[in-house]
Amino acid sequence: MSKYKIAWLPGDGIGNEVMEAARLVLDSLGLDAEYIHGDIGWEFWKTEGDPLPKRTTDMMEKTDCALFGAITSKPQKEAKLELAPELQGKNLTYFSPIVRLRQEFDLYCNERPNLAFKGSNLNLKDDIDITVFRENTEGSYAGVEFGPTSRTLREHMLAEAPKMQRFMDMPDDDIAISTRIITRKGAERIIRSAFEHAKKFGKKSVTLVEKPNVLRKTGGLMVDVFDKVASEYPEIQSWFDNVDAIAMWLVKSPEKYDVLVAENLFGDIISDLAGQLVGGLGFAHSGNTGNDYAVFEPVHGSAPKYAGMYKVNPFAMLLATRMMLNFLGEKEMAAKLYKGIEKTITDAKVLTYDMGGAAKTLDVAHEVIKNFE
Ligand code: NAI
Ligand code: MG
Repeated sequence: MSKYKIAWLPGDGIGNEVMEAARLVLDSLGLDAEYIHGDIGWEFWKTEGDPLPKRTTDMMEKTDCALFGAITSKPQKEAKLELAPELQGKNLTYFSPIVRLRQEFDLYCNERPNLAFKGSNLNLKDDIDITVFRENTEGSYAGVEFGPTSRTLREHMLAEAPKMQRFMDMPDDDIAISTRIITRKGAERIIRSAFEHAKKFGKKSVTLVEKPNVLRKTGGLMVDVFDKVASEYPEIQSWFDNVDAIAMWLVKSPEKYDVLVAENLFGDIISDLAGQLVGGLGFAHSGNTGNDYAVFEPVHGSAPKYAGMYKVNPFAMLLATRMMLNFLGEKEMAAKLYKGIEKTITDAKVLTYDMGGAAKTLDVAHEVIKNFE
């Protein structure tokens, strides 16, 4: 029996190509794992009306973690049109399988490392090493929205929030409301993950990204929890920055930041910003972890315009693979993979188009393997 069981979820388009690269690398590292294929993505929406069939999540329950490529998703109207004829008119609704995975496995922690590799021509600056911890299950993406907004609902709100007065004399159809839900439990577990990471990897500081002077209740609760958790880690510097200000600071002085922590929406935006400082979609990768399970993935999508061409950069996928190896406790393999990627970048002989090269996806994987030694 293998040491690990890994759910293998290539998905659509270039997801398949970058996962092929990951497999070459894992086989060469000699990871003792059984890889179990899982159906996910657009094809299963079209043919079965479900992009994440139950057999896939059932299979995942029996594995240690999952490696995921990318999927295609389309707006509701188009999604319905592409359903197989026998599924038409059945009132099926498309839901993003990634969002569903995060919810079903309670993967509350979205960790996005952003590391400037020495010699990469895509770095804004060298010396950038910023890890973003984004809360994955609540905040502005809790999914609690209203529109049309009934008078009754607004009256309830007015009773608790006098500032609602301005919005009372409007037709229901002319007002939509989204909620931002912060819970003490949700805030605490993501903030604690950030501090634990800082402690484990010897990082100097943790910065909370918020806007508490305007979002007084929700932002206030985040700051309150942050201060409490921070007091348990006196050796780590901690402070909060406003989300708008940090968007400028991250471009001006990214080397000042180590670990950032934020609610769902702020984390989504700030992690894309941080990703572009060190190479963008060819590098950006993430781990979604909960208490019992984890899914590792590149940040990019299925890139239909490159699908089948083996042109795209596998580094994002390989860096997600490295995260998975660290999660499994295979530190030596993770370090070897890191070294292979680093040397491939500094040598600059075998690189994909986005880095100014002409190499193919799998050539880069083979070069990384060559550079293990
Ligand atoms: P995308 O990330 O698939 O690609 C956008 C562009 O970024 C590509 O055309 C290419 O120029 C560049 N790019 C992406 N990955 C790259 C790589 N590894 N190396 C070099 N260049 C790379 O985003 P797009 O085109 O907006 O979405 C395509 C499909 O993917 C849509 O159906 C979308 O819904 C889905 N999507 C899925 C995600 C996921 O599975 N996690 C995330 C984002 C989009
Ligand atoms: Mg995003």
